[in-house]
Amino acid sequence: MTDKKPLLVVSTGAGISAESGISTFRDAGGLWEQYPVMDVASADGFARNPALVHRFYNERRAALAGVKPNRAHIILRELEEKFDVAVITQNVDDLHERAGSSNITHLHGELMKVRAIDNPSLIYPLEHYTDTTTPESTIDGHRVRPHIVFFQEAVPMFEPATEIVAKADIFVIIGTSLAVYPAASLLNYVRPGVPVYYIDPHPSAVPKGVKVIARTASAGLEELVKELC
Ligand code: APR
Repeated sequence: MTDKKPLLVVSTGAGISAESGISTFRDAGGLWEQYPVMDVASADGFARNPALVHRFYNERRAALAGVKPNRAHIILRELEEKFDVAVITQNVDDLHERAGSSNITHLHGELMKVRAIDNPSLIYPLEHYTDTTTPESTIDGHRVRPHIVFFQEAVPMFEPATEIVAKADIFVIIGTSLAVYPAASLLNYVRPGVPVYYIDPHPSAVPKGVKVIARTASAGLEELVKELC
């Protein structure tokens, strides 16, 4: 009978992909400084100008071809040797997948998937980073859209994510400004007494008791691994 590994739940944001060269949203020069967020990432924006939204996500998908997982993504996969690791990410890139993490929940969708507009349960993986969609694109006769959670839309994976966090033996937050809900409230679902760490070079305010490691994702995880292992 093998001992059950402790459940390490990791909540990641754009900051974990920063060292791979992917822009965060709210840092200086971030994505929301370059694009009006409500035009390219909201339900109203999609209704108003779907071609612009398709183009925005086509560009972000194509950019994945030029980046790769960084040390932080790799450490999370390596931690699977000692822990049952559950990654809950706000990111829509595929870097956790490419690093080999085996348990990933995407709260805000995925660049490498599209879904039927008339039936959101019909989700279609795209094969290539160069695959593009337009408002006229259809699959199996269904008009498709990026499989992304826009602002003003529900976050269907949030409830399953809270159930994972509620079982965590250790909870680690990496590279998020904690500015967007409900993702930022995952912290509230941790059982009392479970250690919580927050790795971010410019950490946002967090409740007392959270151990802040004010370093980049990779340096912060190297430090955390020394403490945990
Ligand atoms: N390592 C770790 N964290 C970093 C690094 C790094 N090298 N560089 C920047 N950061 C941190 C910043 O300090 C900031 O706290 O990453 C965080 C990025 O914050 P945001 O840009 O707000 O990204 P995120 O929190 O993931 O945004 C949440 O907002 O627009 C929506 O859907 C979008 O999922 C996104 C959500």
